[in-house]
Amino acid sequence: MADDTRTARLEIEGKSHDLPIYSPTAGPDVIDIRKLYSAAGVFTYDPGFTSTASCDSTITFIDGDKGELLHRGYPIDQLAEKSHFLEVCYLLLYGELPSPAQLEDFEGRVTNHTMLHEQMVYFFRGFRRDAHPMAIMVGVVGAMSAFYHDSTDISDPWQREVASIRMIAKMPTIAAWAYKYSIGQPFVYPRNDLDYASNFLRMCFAVPAEDYEVNPILARAMDRIFTLHADHEQNASTSTVRLASSSGANPFACIAAGIACLWGPAHGGANQACLEMLREIGTPDQIPEYIARAKDKDDPFRLMGFGHRVYKNFDPRAKVMKQSADEVLELLGVEDNPTLQVAKELEKQALADPFFTEKKLFPNVDFYSGIILEAMGFPTSMFTPIFAVSRTIGWISQWKEMITDPQLKIGRPRQLYQGVTLRDYVDIENR
Ligand code: CMC
Repeated sequence: MADDTRTARLEIEGKSHDLPIYSPTAGPDVIDIRKLYSAAGVFTYDPGFTSTASCDSTITFIDGDKGELLHRGYPIDQLAEKSHFLEVCYLLLYGELPSPAQLEDFEGRVTNHTMLHEQMVYFFRGFRRDAHPMAIMVGVVGAMSAFYHDSTDISDPWQREVASIRMIAKMPTIAAWAYKYSIGQPFVYPRNDLDYASNFLRMCFAVPAEDYEVNPILARAMDRIFTLHADHEQNASTSTVRLASSSGANPFACIAAGIACLWGPAHGGANQACLEMLREIGTPDQIPEYIARAKDKDDPFRLMGFGHRVYKNFDPRAKVMKQSADEVLELLGVEDNPTLQVAKELEKQALADPFFTEKKLFPNVDFYSGIILEAMGFPTSMFTPIFAVSRTIGWISQWKEMITDPQLKIGRPRQLYQGVTLRDYVDIENR
């Protein structure tokens, strides 16, 4: 980056400013504006960060035009097909695919941290039964900083490592317990002889009154959902985690901030919103009405599960998810599931409509994930918590990268102030 000698010339009121240009290993060039304010006294303006790189990173790359997603260089479709979630976690966290011994060690460390501090049970019990599981997750993950004091010192690499493993390991337990609590069933403790996805399914669906056998095909589908959501470079929740941690806050508090951001319907909440939309549409004959609403500028309705800030082509995760949906529904004997029929027809009609193709609005990962999760027996309120379980590794990997970056600075955006300028206070009797 430092060897790049190209510059971009910016002229402001007759004065030129040469700004360094950097070439990434992939993706568009980047103009360095860090010294712009001190040199020229101006800020740049980019609400929503549509043209701003907020950091440099070596973890994940997206080519939105090609519809390509790479983790440490490996394409997501290869990882979804040939790898599994914990191996992808290792790859994201440490940069390379593990050797068999490294994987065994990593899986062992994660498995040995799946239990929650027993005192946390009382924390869960303080919530109302009808609390959204995301509300419980935000609270419980933030509260981990009060339970695990020995892994909150971010200047200590060992503590950072322990905090990372704890969060990867405990997030499924937290999400499953949030669900169990909401339906009034006893918490199911993790079982260390099960793989990550099977353990999660068991903690969600087992009851003490009878045996629970994990269906390996459903466990594979669950693992694939985790894998497909693992990381997505500087998305809103990841940027939230980075901004929160730039102040030096402890990792549990920062991941809780990421979970809060993920909850919104424009981000991780889209899977819940999408399934609710498909159910509301109900039957294929209603689709034209909803498409017309999505196209109407005066109607705030959007097709949930469609469109993406970065992908201007098919979301590569959606392709794998669609295939998984077909497999899972066939296995469960519900291929004629009405929601799936509406989803398939909606996709067909939207992609045949120039409004969507011209704006490059294609189905995203959330379009099909809800259908699979519903078929597995999850209520819609659990869709976003499952996304949070998966994305934890992305947040942690990006957090770890940031904490060890020698250029780390507190994130502090500037603004285009449009408010009232200096004026004198008026006493209340004179207003
Ligand atoms: N339905 C109808 N029109 C849409 C949609 C949609 N789903 N998405 C974008 N548009 C239109 C939008 O009205 C705008 O039109 P115009 O240029 O005429 O004003 C144009 O497309 C560009 O939209 P934008 O809001 O400027 O694009 P953005 O990059 O800011 O937003 C998005 C990206 C994902 C928030 C948006 O596409 C959206 O709200 N989609 C539905 C929610 C969704 O599925 N979110 C999940 C994203 S993938 C998982 C994740 O990252 O968490």
